Amino acid sequence: MQIIRTVSELRNWSRAQRANDKTVGLVPTMGALHEGHASLIRAARKECGAVAASIFVNPTQFGPNEDFSRYPRTFDADCQLAEAEGAHVIFAPNVEEIYPQGAATFVEVEGLSNRLDGASRRGHFRGVTTVVSKLFLAAEPDRAYFGQKDAAQVSVLRRMTADLRFGVEIRVCPIIRDADGLALSSRNVYLSAEERKQALTLSRAIRRVEALFTKGVRDTAALVSAAREIFAAEPAVHIDYIALVDWATLQPVDFAGLDSNGGTLFAVAAYVGATRLIDNTILN
Ligand code: PAJ
Repeated sequence: MQIIRTVSELRNWSRAQRANDKTVGLVPTMGALHEGHASLIRAARKECGAVAASIFVNPTQFGPNEDFSRYPRTFDADCQLAEAEGAHVIFAPNVEEIYPQGAATFVEVEGLSNRLDGASRRGHFRGVTTVVSKLFLAAEPDRAYFGQKDAAQVSVLRRMTADLRFGVEIRVCPIIRDADGLALSSRNVYLSAEERKQALTLSRAIRRVEALFTKGVRDTAALVSAAREIFAAEPAVHIDYIALVDWATLQPVDFAGLDSNGGTLFAVAAYVGATRLIDNTILN
């Protein structure tokens, strides 16, 4: 496995793969890789002849009071995992390679970027769309792999990819969970043993809503209040949002599962101590 540090080298690698009739798959990450990231690399390996995973803790998607400086950085272990899953390249640029001195160009998806996580983390999605655009321009992938775990991120990136006609196929992979239901996240390492138990409130709420939906409940108010009841039982966990929205537009829906755009997204975000966690399910 090759470690590439510059945009021009990555572009040359990608073009060489394509010249050899290989399709190029890109798996963007911020490192601290876990089984969720591994599943994306595996999916890319199944569908593409050449796979690059990027590891870049992107400063522009963190707010001033967020965890950029203490975000877990485990580069050596990440390389081992990526190599074991069959990635051909790790793209690990430094900040200046992605944001040259004086960089003043951003990519922003209007509207969508201010919903769900974008409402509570102002500027977050602008940072995500900017860095993913730069990664697409550098890697020129045929396909790019993202997790449903960050469902609103998927909506924003699908819109961006269509609007800018990147010609990249966006592939979305299922949420990988621990045995007890907690969605894997690089941020789970912040949780104390006690908080780790409290964090199960999110997946419990997701499962409750899925169960009601399976039973035929379509009334969104009933689904949301069932989720609220689950959170009410764990007062140490503070809700950021509970949302039932069209997955494509991130706008509220009245009846779950009736839209034509691939499903209704039920999503939650909550603080467990100082750690913000998210989880979701697609109802359709
Ligand atoms: P990061 O949080 O490192 O996640 C990288 C990719 O892994 C994302 O597409 C995310 O949805 C996926 N992922 C994380 N946890 C997962 C899980 N439990 N199951 C399945 N997939 C999971 O998302 C980002 O980085 C950044 O915003 C990025 C897109 C790299 C731009 O900086």
